[in-house]
Amino acid sequence: MKRHILLTPGPVNIKENIRRALLKPDICHREAEFSKILLGCRKKLLKVFKVENSHDVVFFSGSGTAAVEAAVISSVPRGKKILVINNGVYAERMTTIARRHKIAVINLKFDITKRPDIGPVERRIKADKEIAVVAMVHHETSTGLLNPVDEIGRLCKRYGVLYLLDSVSSLGGEKLSFKKTPVDLCVGVANKCIEGIPGISFVLIKKKAIAKIERIQPRSLYFDIISNLRLQRKGDVAFTPAVQSFYSFDIALDELIKEGVEKRVRRYKNTAALLRKGFADLGLRNLIDPTYHSNTVTALYLPGGLHYKNLHDTLKKKGFVIYAGQAKLKDVIFRVANMGQVKAKDIRRFLTCLKTILSR
Ligand SMILES: Cc1ncc(COP(=O)(O)O)c(C=O)c1O
Repeated sequence: MKRHILLTPGPVNIKENIRRALLKPDICHREAEFSKILLGCRKKLLKVFKVENSHDVVFFSGSGTAAVEAAVISSVPRGKKILVINNGVYAERMTTIARRHKIAVINLKFDITKRPDIGPVERRIKADKEIAVVAMVHHETSTGLLNPVDEIGRLCKRYGVLYLLDSVSSLGGEKLSFKKTPVDLCVGVANKCIEGIPGISFVLIKKKAIAKIERIQPRSLYFDIISNLRLQRKGDVAFTPAVQSFYSFDIALDELIKEGVEKRVRRYKNTAALLRKGFADLGLRNLIDPTYHSNTVTALYLPGGLHYKNLHDTLKKKGFVIYAGQAKLKDVIFRVANMGQVKAKDIRRFLTCLKTILSR
């Protein structure tokens, strides 16, 4: 199969040693060999994000949505509510999850191209004592917009509600200080900015929040954070994990520790800057105010007369995979991501191809 440069927000192009880790010998997840890998991944993940003292972690064998679902349904006490700050597709998904599980949800909608106003969020939290959890997406991948994590964190702390952050597309790619921002449940995945392969998602849980969550009667067997956490702390698992994904995850974490989160964030930022300079030179229009751009996703309006499929297919023939808009932005925008092992020379070649297509 031809190798492509994935300008998509996951899965991403990964290092060869991380891919090769998949080929380690078969092992059984009930044996000491797997326990060692699991405990190693727990330790490395907590270390690389500097949360060894403040947080614990629970893994799920599943995509990002698996851990988002686990976080939502494990954190809201029976009879209480979750408030979702909704300015995009992935926030909408958290609302859907809550509704499917019959959890009372306040779906606070905002313009998808803007940062949410803090005022209405604060008023709702203040007015409704039943709100137990406030949920937000850190990086709304559907638009490339970074949400105000610190401001919402301060609100949650002030009003004593749990703060659930979907950091699926931002953990490892954006600045996030767990010391400064009191995130109680932070959801991440192995395959985006951590540059592992898909198959593992996780929730970093603040130790202080665990006692609160432990008192909630579980709504699910598979996605119950507490029962999984208790086993995983001992190197055990409740169900068959994606063993080979853990091999790769382990090496991906070594690579992240070696590079350092700050350096990775800077690398992504620099790559995005190179791309965005090229887009501006080509006269492409941004969907959102660049002030709120993440380090990894750029959403651009499709120039008049250009259909996404044509753009996608022509670029794919040249070796690049771009990403479509979602929901109501499906035929309006295209997205270019720069997570993973994307080099400056790849970006320059991509921009040259894009220029040729746009000048036809
Ligand atoms: C912010 C965010 N949350 C959740 C998800 C869902 O992840 P998955 O597709 O791995 O289930 C994604 C996927 O791109 C995402 O970007």
